[in-house]
Amino acid sequence: MKVSWDSLNEAVAQCQRCELCRQIHHKVPGQGNAKARLMLIGEGPGYEEDKSGLAFVGPAGQLLTKMLASIQLTREEVYICNVVKCRPPANRVPTPDEMAACMGYLRMQFALVRPQVILLLGATAGRAVLGESFRVTRDRGRFVIKNGVWMMPTYHPSALLRDETGQKKREAWQDLLAVKAKLAEVPAGESRRVSYGVCDQ
Ligand code: URA
Repeated sequence: MKVSWDSLNEAVAQCQRCELCRQIHHKVPGQGNAKARLMLIGEGPGYEEDKSGLAFVGPAGQLLTKMLASIQLTREEVYICNVVKCRPPANRVPTPDEMAACMGYLRMQFALVRPQVILLLGATAGRAVLGESFRVTRDRGRFVIKNGVWMMPTYHPSALLRDETGQKKREAWQDLLAVKAKLAEVPAGESRRVSYGVCDQ
C-alpha cells in the first residue's frame, strides 16, 4: 500500500474509528523529523497535548526533552508520537479496542519514518508494539529486534515524574545509554527495511 504524510494526516484528521474523537480539542498525530533514526512512542495525548495538537509538550514532554538532551539528541532529530492520537478522558489508559482502532496510523508512521531504533515509552506502547504479555518492569531495558528495527522498552516519563526513590530514573538512564550506543553501532546509512510489519500482532 502506498502511504504519504498527506494521506496519514488526512486519515487521522477524518478519523472516527472510536469514541475518543468525540471529546477532544485536537487530534495529536505526532511530530518531528520525518527521516529520524530514532522514533519515540508514548501512550496518548494528555491535557496540554490535546490543547496544542502536539505530542509530549506537557510536564512529561518537558522531561522527555531533557532525557533526549542527556544523550545529545534534540527533539528536531527524532520523531515522537503516541499509540492513540486522541486524548482519553481524564488521561485514562486507552482500551484495547481504542488502541486497535489507532494502530493503522502507527503502522503508517513506521512505514514513513523507517526508524532504525524505537524507544517504547511505558506499558501501553510496549503492549501495542510487542504484545499483550509485555510488562514494563520486567521487560524494559532489553532490546528486541523486530523486522530489522531495534526496540528499547523503557519507563514512561510520567512514571519517572512520580518516581520517589529515583530507582526508575536510574534504570531509564541505563536504557537511554543503550539507545545511544545502538545508534552509534548501527550505521546511519544502513538500509532500513520498510516496517509496516513492525507492530503486527
Ligand atoms: N503522555 C503520553 O503518552 N503522550 C503524550 O503526548 C503526553 C503525555
